Amino acid sequence: MSEKEIFQTPPLFAAQAAVDGDRLRQMTEEAARDPERFWLGQAGRLDWTWRPTVASGSSFADDVSIRWFADGRLNASVNCLDRHLAERGEQIALIWQGQEAAQVERLTYRALHERVCRMANVLRGLGVGRGDRVAIHLPMVAEGVVAMLACARIGALHVVLFGGFSAEGLADRLNDSGAVVVITADEARRGAKRIPLKSVMDEALARGVPSVRHVLVLAVTGLDLPMHDGRDLALGPLLAEASPDCPAAEMAAEDPLFLLYTSGSTGKPKGVVHATGGYMVWASFTHELVFDHRAGDVFWCTADISWITGHTYVVYGPLANGGTVLLFEGLPSYPAPGRWWEVIETHKVTTFYTAPTAIRSLMRDDGGTVERHALDSLRLLGSVGEPISPDAWVWFHEAVGRGRCPVVDTWWQTETGGILIAPVPGAVPQKPGSATLPLPGVELALLTDKGAVIEGVGEGCLCIARSWPGQARTIWGGHDRFRQTYFSFCPGYYFSGDGARRDEDGYYWITGRIDDVINVSGHRIGTAEVEDVVATDHRFVECAAVGIPHDIKGQGLVVFAVARDAAEPGLADAASLAVTRGIGRYAVPERVYLVPDLPKTRSGKIVRRLLRKIACHELDGLGDLSTLADATIVGRLIAVVGSAK
Ligand code: PRX
Repeated sequence: MSEKEIFQTPPLFAAQAAVDGDRLRQMTEEAARDPERFWLGQAGRLDWTWRPTVASGSSFADDVSIRWFADGRLNASVNCLDRHLAERGEQIALIWQGQEAAQVERLTYRALHERVCRMANVLRGLGVGRGDRVAIHLPMVAEGVVAMLACARIGALHVVLFGGFSAEGLADRLNDSGAVVVITADEARRGAKRIPLKSVMDEALARGVPSVRHVLVLAVTGLDLPMHDGRDLALGPLLAEASPDCPAAEMAAEDPLFLLYTSGSTGKPKGVVHATGGYMVWASFTHELVFDHRAGDVFWCTADISWITGHTYVVYGPLANGGTVLLFEGLPSYPAPGRWWEVIETHKVTTFYTAPTAIRSLMRDDGGTVERHALDSLRLLGSVGEPISPDAWVWFHEAVGRGRCPVVDTWWQTETGGILIAPVPGAVPQKPGSATLPLPGVELALLTDKGAVIEGVGEGCLCIARSWPGQARTIWGGHDRFRQTYFSFCPGYYFSGDGARRDEDGYYWITGRIDDVINVSGHRIGTAEVEDVVATDHRFVECAAVGIPHDIKGQGLVVFAVARDAAEPGLADAASLAVTRGIGRYAVPERVYLVPDLPKTRSGKIVRRLLRKIACHELDGLGDLSTLADATIVGRLIAVVGSAK
């Protein structure tokens, strides 16, 4: 299909959408003409104990300082809960659907408020207060949302950790954040499998994490586990005893709300810091605008709460807007294909937001179950996390949305807090594969790799020229790293790490990461991280990791490793094991090639571009090899990869 194919908003949707083309143009103009006024106006969507009188005071120059609504005061959990009690206390805030069909819990705003207060009191009882870090390591159960909002209530920063991280990955993040309390569970259910959350956490803590005073353990499967005296506490009984009232801490807008770890092109994962006021405005603004949120919607974002998508569009955005969110514990095809469609039907989901990896695998393995479900409740579909190819987009639109639902392809990052590029569905016609246009107030720029601004049609490095409220403030414990990573590429611009193309209609087409970050099933993995963990096995002299296209995962990881003694057996498995031990199972390489050497420039830099081509068997056009210190290596690498085919 030609990328120029345009999908106009389906008429029924357009007739009811809150924002049409004229309104969007007006918002975009207002935000550009007088950003201060526009954003102070948007701040009005929250309840503040002290309404801000200034919007931005940010600068991308010199030391880089991002500040929004600086004199405002508020509490994020009050904005997600308390302020809704009078008007919609009995409305369902959270539907939890467990893995088994019969496991359903519906929490009204009043019930969720009470659960959050109890959890907040448990934390306060353990001496947790403002500015402390609390690690949350839970499956997709209501307590995950409850724990996040409980931290927000008492001014503690949550650090949500993915259940798929290895013990080493957990320990690194706990030590970096200095978490004082961990909230985990006995196990997570994952189809027929069980993930031993508590015992992996025990292993992490055994590596030495002096800051952690207590581990709260939620019983999910009821497994009987050893508890460390004085450190581990069963969470259920503490919640039952805790008071259901908990006054909220009044926070400054710039007080951090949470840290969230993500991978970059260098070194260890970094704790991205988001601040309360700006993040909450952005979460609420983008959720309402991009998802055309209205009363009665049932919003299902399939992301795990341990990723930024889960933070912003499972928790803060929809709850700030008084919506009803669905939290699903299970997998798309457990116990059988079609499970997701059943969930949509059972709970009358109106808005379904998922990832291209899931769409691609459903497209391939759904076995036509989608056709056997009416899916009448759906009115809008969304995609996030990776480029979505036009064929997957069209399948999503036709097979799931029955041509009735616009598809919003949303581009953003952990660092952006919320969506920056997406078609506002009642206003912007969609082109499959394009995230389309920036939201009001988002000033994008395409730069050449030398930092020159590209005007009009062109392709380059995707940058942002001006701060927006949801922007990350810093990297935990590393402002200099923050400045270096995002603002040194071209002074005055935030550099996203992505490449993009702008077409004749001004639409953006994200082409993928152009730094050394690989996106495997929407999980960001730094090549440097992989290389570091393989290097911990001294049987390897060095290694290089690259990403190659993968039908389902988007990208797959391939490792080229140079062994000290190539004759030793089991080395490829050892390299894979080093990655799963050091990072987690989700990072397991597709292939490990044991090679005699790596292609390097004369100054010793590994030429990953070449490795990528060889791993993809793209042997025509390997490019200029004259910069290599030893060009003969190319033939030897091709031979290794070829013989493993
Ligand atoms: O490469 C882009 C890709 O995901 C990266 C951000 O990953 P993360 O911080 O984990 O956040 C994911 C959820 C927002 C980006 O740098 N990405 C995200 N959305 C899209 C995308 N690539 C193409 N199209 C998208 N819609």
